[in-house]
Amino acid sequence: MRTQVVIIGAGPAGLLLGRLLDLSGIDNVLLERQTREHVLSRIRAGILEQTTVDLLKSAEAGDRVAREGIPHHTLQLAFDYQSVAIELSRHTGGKVVTAYGQTEVTRDLCDAREAAGGQAIYQADAVELFDFDTDRPYVTYRRDGIDYRIDCDLIAGCDGYHGASRAAVPEAAITTYEKLYPFGWLGVLADTVPVANEVVYANTERGFALCSMRSMTRSRYYIQCPVDDRVENWSDEAFWDELRRRLPPAMAEALETGPSLEKSIAPLRSFVAEPMCFGRLLLAGDAAHVVPPTGAKGLNLAVSDIYYLHRAMRAFFADHDIPALPHYSKIALDRVWKTERFSWWLTNLTHRFSDDRFEQKMKEAELAYVTTSEVGRQLVAENYVGLPL
Ligand code: APR
Ligand code: PHB
Repeated sequence: MRTQVVIIGAGPAGLLLGRLLDLSGIDNVLLERQTREHVLSRIRAGILEQTTVDLLKSAEAGDRVAREGIPHHTLQLAFDYQSVAIELSRHTGGKVVTAYGQTEVTRDLCDAREAAGGQAIYQADAVELFDFDTDRPYVTYRRDGIDYRIDCDLIAGCDGYHGASRAAVPEAAITTYEKLYPFGWLGVLADTVPVANEVVYANTERGFALCSMRSMTRSRYYIQCPVDDRVENWSDEAFWDELRRRLPPAMAEALETGPSLEKSIAPLRSFVAEPMCFGRLLLAGDAAHVVPPTGAKGLNLAVSDIYYLHRAMRAFFADHDIPALPHYSKIALDRVWKTERFSWWLTNLTHRFSDDRFEQKMKEAELAYVTTSEVGRQLVAENYVGLPL
C-alpha cells in the first residue's frame, strides 16, 4: 500500500491531523494499536483553550463542543481554605476556556473521520518505522496475523509517550528532559452537580485538590496522593471525606457526593524530547512531550502541535518545501517549553512536596502575590487560556 502520510496513533493528535490532512486533500492512513472502543473509553482532562475549539471547528468536528461545551470565565485558586477567582476574560481581552471532556473530543474527531469515509486501522500490532532518514520511509504492522507494509512520504508519530515512533529514533539524535513528581493524582468522575461553576485548584496542608466538571450534572475531582498509592485503598466514601477536608468550608458543605463512575491514579510527569523532526518522521503530542495535568495543557498542546504540523505538511506537499519540516519542530518547541513552564509552575505552587515549612511559606506568599497583583492575575489568566499560536 502507498499513501502520503502514515499517522501512528488515533488519540486526539493523530485524529485531528488526519482530519486536517483530509480537508487539504492529502492522503493519509491512521494506524492504532488499540480498539476504537478502548480509545473512546479513556477518561482524560477536560478544559479546552479557544484555539483548540477553533481548530476542532476547522476540522469540521466542532459542532458538539459549540453546543455542549461550558464556557469558564474564571478559575479559582484556593489556599488557606480561601478561594480567589481569577477573571480570565477581563485579563485576556475576552478569552475564556471551555469545559468539554477529551473523550468527547476524540469521539467527535473519530465520527467526523468516519462520516467523511476515512478509516483508521485499529488493532495494528508491532508497528515499526523504517528509513525515515531517506525520502522513502515506510511503516510495517501486523493485523490478524498478517504482515503489512505502507510506503509513504512522511510519518507522523502521534502515538503517545509509550509509542513506537520516538523509540525508533537513534538515541544520539534525540535529547530528552524529564521530571517526575513525588506524588500522583487520584481522580473520581461522578454524576453529581459540580461544587463550583469553574475549576478550583486548592493548596492545603493535607495536599492539593482540584474540582472540575464534564457537564452541569457530571463532576470530576482529583486529590494529590502518594505516588505508590492504589485505587483499592480508596473507597468512594474515603475519597469524598478527604476531598471535603481539602476544600474551603463553604464548598465542603455544598459538595454533592455519589457513586464513582471512574476512579484512577495517575503519576505526574514533565517530559520533552528535542527535536520533533527526524528527516521524514515528525513527532506530535504526548509522543514528544508530557505535562503534569495541573493547568490541563496536555490535549491543548497536542492540538497546537498539529496546527503547526498540518501547516508544514501542506507546504511540503504543495511547494516541496523541505525546510518546513525542521521549522515545524522549532516553532512547536517554542510553545511546548512555555507551556511546560506554566504546568510545572502551577504544579509547584499548588502541591505539597514535603514538610519543608519555609518552602510552603514561599508558595503561600507567591499565591498571595499572584492573586492580589493585577500583573500576577494577568500572568495566570494569559497562560491558562492558552498562549497565542
Ligand atoms: N502503535 C500504534 N498506536 C499506538 C502505539 C503503537 N506502537 N503506541 C501507542 N499508540 C496509540 C495509543 O493507543 C493512543 O491511542 O497512540 C495513541 C496516542 O494517544 P494519546 O496518548 O491520547 O496522545 P495524543 O494524541 O498525543 O494526545 C495528547 O491527550 O492522551 C492525552 O495525556 C494526553 O492530554 C494528552 C493528549
Ligand atoms: C479535568 O477536568 O479533568 C481537569 C481540569 C483541570 C486540570 C486537570 C484536569 O488542570
